[in-house]
Amino acid sequence: HHEETRLFATTTTTTTTTEPYKAPATEIERRRNLAIISHPDSGKTTMTEKLLLYGGALQQAGAVRQKAEQRATQSDFMEMEQERGISISSTVMNFDYNGLRVNILDTPGHQDFSEDTYRALAAADNAVMLLDAAKGLEPQTRKLFEVCRLRNLPLFTFVNKMDRPALTPYEIMDQIEAEFGLETHPILWPIGDGDRFKGVLDRTTNIVHLYTKPTQRGGKAEVQEVPMEDEDTLKSLIDDQELFDKLLEDQELLQELIPPLDMERVMAATQSPLFFGSAMTNFGVQLFLDKFCDMGTKPMGRLAADKQEDEGEFLIAPEHQEFTGFVFKTQANLDPKHRDRLAYVRVVSGVYEKGMKVGHSRSKPAKKYNLAQAQALFGSDRTTVELAYPGDVIGINNPGNFAIGDTLYTGNSKVAFPGIPSFSPEKFAYIRSPNPSDYKSFRKGMDQLLDEGAIQALRQRNDDGGGPLMLAAVGQLQFEVVQARLKNEYNVDSLMEPLSYTLARWVDGGWDAVDKADADGKLFGIMVVQDRWKRPVLLFRNDWKAASLAEEEKYLELKPWSQ
Ligand code: G4P
Repeated sequence: HHEETRLFATTTTTTTTTEPYKAPATEIERRRNLAIISHPDSGKTTMTEKLLLYGGALQQAGAVRQKAEQRATQSDFMEMEQERGISISSTVMNFDYNGLRVNILDTPGHQDFSEDTYRALAAADNAVMLLDAAKGLEPQTRKLFEVCRLRNLPLFTFVNKMDRPALTPYEIMDQIEAEFGLETHPILWPIGDGDRFKGVLDRTTNIVHLYTKPTQRGGKAEVQEVPMEDEDTLKSLIDDQELFDKLLEDQELLQELIPPLDMERVMAATQSPLFFGSAMTNFGVQLFLDKFCDMGTKPMGRLAADKQEDEGEFLIAPEHQEFTGFVFKTQANLDPKHRDRLAYVRVVSGVYEKGMKVGHSRSKPAKKYNLAQAQALFGSDRTTVELAYPGDVIGINNPGNFAIGDTLYTGNSKVAFPGIPSFSPEKFAYIRSPNPSDYKSFRKGMDQLLDEGAIQALRQRNDDGGGPLMLAAVGQLQFEVVQARLKNEYNVDSLMEPLSYTLARWVDGGWDAVDKADADGKLFGIMVVQDRWKRPVLLFRNDWKAASLAEEEKYLELKPWSQ
């Protein structure tokens, strides 16, 4: 599988003979993308596994599990990175369910890899917020929720682990409302919790689903469906007077208090459909999948920058004739034997066809690449893809040309989707190679890891690459992974020198604003650096200092994100 590249003839005289292949509306219509956001340990791996199980993509729960078991310690993490690389990065799992194609954009569980989660969210069209019923909102959920809000992603909430002692459903609803200003609308309502968790009321049909625990791990739960009106049967099956009374009371209360489900508001992310269940015992999982398939949105278009930069943005709808897509993740050395590198592309419009030639937004002069072989990835298995439609994700061989945020397109007019912003880093350190003779491999390794977006690089102002290299990360583990990969994949040692800064702010006001603040003596104790695109970034030692500078020197337009 050799990668062909050739220069793109900008002044071509031949007329196109074949019409671009338009994505059939039915293919777009039947796709559902989702990414799960959660705090570590709330059950994302288990939930993913169960969705795959009910979707028929897994014969037996347990396949996704393996990776969770390897997650216990950091050394496992490293091993995983080397052996199965795929596990800690966003990949896509898909299955056909009731005529729909569901794509689950997997997101790594460890908090230091939230950067990858962020990128998976850029490729997703729906998000599922998974909460631990005993804990409610947790730090990682809060952080990732902000990302969803930035993109106005429709958000479904699944409260997991109801088979354990839980907060009351009302407490959880209040928490989401109070902290996120987000109204929830219960679709599945729990009957009991902990050992007394009997099942859920489906409020859209008024049918109660009563479960019995599966006898073996990985089995599906047995379910009995009883309409709410059939009170006698219900009462005898629930077999708990208190829970039965509570159910009747809750049902009435909800009917009075809860504003109606409003799909327009769900799509605008101002109302979140709410579900309760237990991924481990399979309570409510299939119901959730059914409802998600009904309510979730099909793949959406994306805004692209106009050719004349100042003309603003325009929407490329999935129905657009030409193929367009963007790279949201790249990864090197998935298979150590082949030293291969992959770029993951989210198809936005048109159809990917094997062997198609695409333009590349970032190359100058404009280049065309032959996408000879795209792959679909399922865990560590790969299959070759002949056709891919809007909403799908394909993995393409990446000889080093494709970076995160790059747009690929067919047709003669260039298309560029805006880049994918990164999480705000909180850890900073200089990195260098202790052996001058290793310099070249160090550079090469660093360049590739930076392209991959494993970590961000910062440099001194006006440094073209000769000066000291500073790394910026969300968590310490990212530094350790970089060092381990430099060693294992490029055979170079590296030294890190941590810095005491804890916060970065991008200066949207630009370098002139930085100069003004500097001249006014406002940047004392603050480090001024530039990012990969030579945009100004300020590093602070504490939140307070950043907050007061933002407040007092508004022209700086300090932003936590690099857009
Ligand atoms: P994560 O990917 O979000 O980090 O969570 P993961 O699925 O790995 O689940 C974390 C722990 O929570 C696991 O237990 C898992 O079995 C458990 N869990 C997940 N869903 C439920 C649920 O609905 N109810 C209950 N009671 N537990 C649940 P573990 O002890 O870490 O692993 P294991 O021994 O079960 O493999």
